[in-house]
Amino acid sequence: MKSFKLGVFGASLLYSAAAVAGPLPAPIEDADFHQFPPELVELGRDLFFDPILSGNKNIACATCHHPSLGTSDAMSLSVGEGGVGLGESRRVDMGNAPKARIPRNAPALFNLGAKEYTVMFHDGRTAKDRHAMFGIRMPEGRTLERPVVSALAAQNILPILSPDEMSGHPGENDVADAVAAERIMGDGGAWDLLAQRIDSITEYQQRFDALGTSEIHITDIGTALSAFIGSEFRATDSPFDRYLRGEDGMSEEQLAGMDLFYGKARCSTCHSGAFQTDHNFHAIGLPQIGPGKDDYASDAGRGMITGEPEDMYRFRTPTLRNISMTGPYGHNGAYANLEDIVRHHLDAVKGLASYDRSKAVLAKDMTADDWKAMDDFDEVMRIAEAIEISDVALVEDEIAKIMSFLGALTDKDAGKRGLGTPNSVPSGLPLDAAAPPS
Ligand code: HEC
Ligand code: HEC
Repeated sequence: MKSFKLGVFGASLLYSAAAVAGPLPAPIEDADFHQFPPELVELGRDLFFDPILSGNKNIACATCHHPSLGTSDAMSLSVGEGGVGLGESRRVDMGNAPKARIPRNAPALFNLGAKEYTVMFHDGRTAKDRHAMFGIRMPEGRTLERPVVSALAAQNILPILSPDEMSGHPGENDVADAVAAERIMGDGGAWDLLAQRIDSITEYQQRFDALGTSEIHITDIGTALSAFIGSEFRATDSPFDRYLRGEDGMSEEQLAGMDLFYGKARCSTCHSGAFQTDHNFHAIGLPQIGPGKDDYASDAGRGMITGEPEDMYRFRTPTLRNISMTGPYGHNGAYANLEDIVRHHLDAVKGLASYDRSKAVLAKDMTADDWKAMDDFDEVMRIAEAIEISDVALVEDEIAKIMSFLGALTDKDAGKRGLGTPNSVPSGLPLDAAAPPS
């Protein structure tokens, strides 16, 4: 019981009731979240679903982060600009075939409106940093031009600059050309072109105007998107939340799984806090699949951002909120099945060495060598050597209990209490059809 830190929490009755070995988070409150005016949230909603923000006007944020797919896309690696359809039925547009899969898994967007979320992306390349311009560190050449409310709002103006995700390729449209020429900031840069595009649509212009923004800047778009994501995708009414509030929320088996999670299984050493993440980076040796982040199809995660040897192959600890609806799992979706990635943690070297390639979900009509890194013995050894998670011995019954606890982290009405999917968007462009319920 060495990690028992009672003093941090007020609700001491929880401990005596369930004999939990590790610190449980305090219940989540409204004050833990940024609040936004409803008109801004609604404006953000329309921008989120509107393909107008993509260079070729053919893909929206929602395509890869769809509410009907747990705010993700149900794929290990997304098919970005140049695909048609949603989720597993997304197909390559043969007239505009994407050059590669997106190198990382599209994460779910639940609870990103909480104030404690100050680190974005699997590698944290956008994050709160008091030494950076307006207090938020951005990738090189993409410095914030005006202040924004959160790291989330800053992140939200980056996907539109990615050729494979949203902007398209040079020669296809003005935004893609600006991105290719590294003209991002300033007049006539990619951000400015997109802001002008939104400004030229009367309905957007009027709705921004009503909120006091007469000339739309890209940071206004980022703020609106973050207002929507932060408000709409809140997931804080799960059985676990009810339990933390002192209500009768969880079954005996879920409680037993919680004891293991916060105790013997040591999950909470990294999956800590209200959202089961320490917002920090750890190497757990997931198999590397897809195009990766360099010529060798490898992805060293945090190490590529800091250049520090100890950060190699580290990735941000993901939240486990709504985890049962957000698969595939891991920074590249190597495991489509939740229990498989939990088992990987228990003996990560074995998980890496015995990885079964059929565990990933990849769009089949794309010609891609997805196994370049895994076929490279030296690379697999480097991933293995970086592993820092220690093995945990659990019997089958204990794994079942942990799985049951993970189920108690689901707020099944998340994304259903808010605005939902719009019927149409101000640009008049068609929306991605919602996937049939699974
Ligand atoms: C082609 C698919 C695709 C599209 C389109 C897309 N995203 Fe993403 N999104 C991703 C992937 C993949 C990542 C992870 C990238 C990484 O970590 O390196 C991501 C990461 C994010 C994150 C970070 C989440 C976190 O927990 O760190 C946010 C927020 C986000 N996207 C919002 C948006 C918004 C807003 C848009 C539209 C402007 C958008 N995305 C468009 C695929 C997509
Ligand atoms: C040493 C820190 C650490 C410990 C301990 C740990 N995890 Fe993780 N976990 C991570 C990291 C880091 C990732 C993401 C790895 C990546 O993307 O490459 C992850 C990913 C996951 C995922 C996939 C989440 C997603 O959205 O993709 C699940 C589920 C998970 N962990 C559950 C658990 C459980 C259950 C335990 C206890 C048995 C546990 N973890 C222990 C660090 C840890």
